Amino acid sequence: MTKIAVAKGDGIGPEIMDAVLKIFDAAKVPLEYEFVDMGKWVFDKGYSNGMTPDAQRSIETLGILFKGPMETPKGKGVKSVNVTARKTWNTYANKRTFQTLHGVDTVFSKAGIPIDITVVRENIEDTYGGVEHMLTHDVALSRRFITRPGSLQLIKYAFEMAKKKQAKRITCGHKANIMKITDGLFLEVFYEVAKDYPELKADDVIVDDLCMKLVTRPDLFDTVVLTNLQGDIVSDLCAGLVGGLGFAPSANIGDHICIFEAVHGTAPDIAGKNIANPTALLLSGFGMLRHLGMMESAAIIENALLYTLEQGIHTGDFGNKSIPSLNTTEFAEAIIGNFGKVPEQGAKPLLKDLPTTQTYFKLEKNPMMESADVANEKIVGVDFFIESNEQPITIANKCMRHAGVKFKLINISNRGTQVWPTGSVYTNLVNQYNVRFESIDDFPLNQQDVLGLYVSMSGNFKICSSELLLMLGDKKAYSLAQGQ
Ligand code: NAI
Repeated sequence: MTKIAVAKGDGIGPEIMDAVLKIFDAAKVPLEYEFVDMGKWVFDKGYSNGMTPDAQRSIETLGILFKGPMETPKGKGVKSVNVTARKTWNTYANKRTFQTLHGVDTVFSKAGIPIDITVVRENIEDTYGGVEHMLTHDVALSRRFITRPGSLQLIKYAFEMAKKKQAKRITCGHKANIMKITDGLFLEVFYEVAKDYPELKADDVIVDDLCMKLVTRPDLFDTVVLTNLQGDIVSDLCAGLVGGLGFAPSANIGDHICIFEAVHGTAPDIAGKNIANPTALLLSGFGMLRHLGMMESAAIIENALLYTLEQGIHTGDFGNKSIPSLNTTEFAEAIIGNFGKVPEQGAKPLLKDLPTTQTYFKLEKNPMMESADVANEKIVGVDFFIESNEQPITIANKCMRHAGVKFKLINISNRGTQVWPTGSVYTNLVNQYNVRFESIDDFPLNQQDVLGLYVSMSGNFKICSSELLLMLGDKKAYSLAQGQ
């Protein structure tokens, strides 16, 4: 028996979790459950992260959390328990599998176009750090973190997973044509890792083009790897291709703790009515069983589910309306009644169980903190984000008086578009500018030089924020303004 932590969640969570565990128990899945307290009602009891200390301890000891959806209480300052859990336990890879399910009609299933896409989304970084500031009353800034180690662990996981499932193609979705530094780094790491997997066809597609291609020829894609926000959007798009969120499972994979859950939320509009569709949670459960090496149990139950769907049996949210729908409990019972049956299409082979190798330990050395080449960097300038409603030429004249002997004013931009020394009168301005200084004649700069300029500039301007301009080796580690 393997013990896992189970959190039933809020809204329809308890109903669909009960249905799934009933199916597991009927199939004699060798799992033992420790029910833990997480969700909205735990927030309401005063636990600000949405889980009790006992729940946290159990999950950290057991390493596997099977969870129902959880409501994020409305109001400022409250973080989603779902996002907190993924970040606290560094479940850096979010894996979502989208497959054609016979009996779930979609445009593509009707056209005979099969879909089997796995989206691997980075789960920690990007704008999901939620590091945001108002720079002025009118200007908001969000910081987007894309790191080499964060991208590396995600992309390595994606390639390993693609190799195991004998994927025909692995595609990186990105916007590196615009976000040359952040998405550029992600893409660079993708191709670095790809070199170790010559057997896999690795390519990349710009994310907007990817969306268009996914809705026209989804059958051409297999494994798709993306940064966090783009992955969030693309994975919901893929859920739509196979019948909606009711059929979208999700696994949050970390080195020590993994979380398995459905993609959908708590469905408050139908909670407590015993009519919710448990399929997405059940599909997530198959991911968990296979992760634990329980290949045979996963295949028996999955075949029964696929057979049930093929028979036209459905809950109220999908399927042929001329066949009466079943409620959640009846749907689970129908699946149990079909144990041993094999679907006509997509039957899963009854693979032997694998030995479980769960050894959890804390790393003594944290590779996330190591930088590839710390020595080879130098400060070459600084960007000041200032508040001003003056004309660019006026700002430039003031700035040049502060530049001194070490700095020269390079350019001024507004929302990323250059407005000085050249620009267009048609560019619309907000009251926050980025003023860029670089060192004269490659004069070596240090932080004290930058601080001196900061103090001098602050006599004239409110400086909302600043960034060092670095050269990493022979590469500029900062973007140029549009038109620079
Ligand atoms: P939702 O996914 O709960 O509901 C959207 C629509 O889909 C509703 O009409 C609902 O009835 C339907 N639906 C969802 N799951 C269904 C199922 N299994 N069977 C039948 N119909 C289903 O999204 P919504 O309304 O935006 O979010 C509600 C709450 O859920 C929010 O508090 C949100 O924060 C939370 N949430 C939690 C997630 C998680 O725990 N991972 C993920 C997404 C939302």
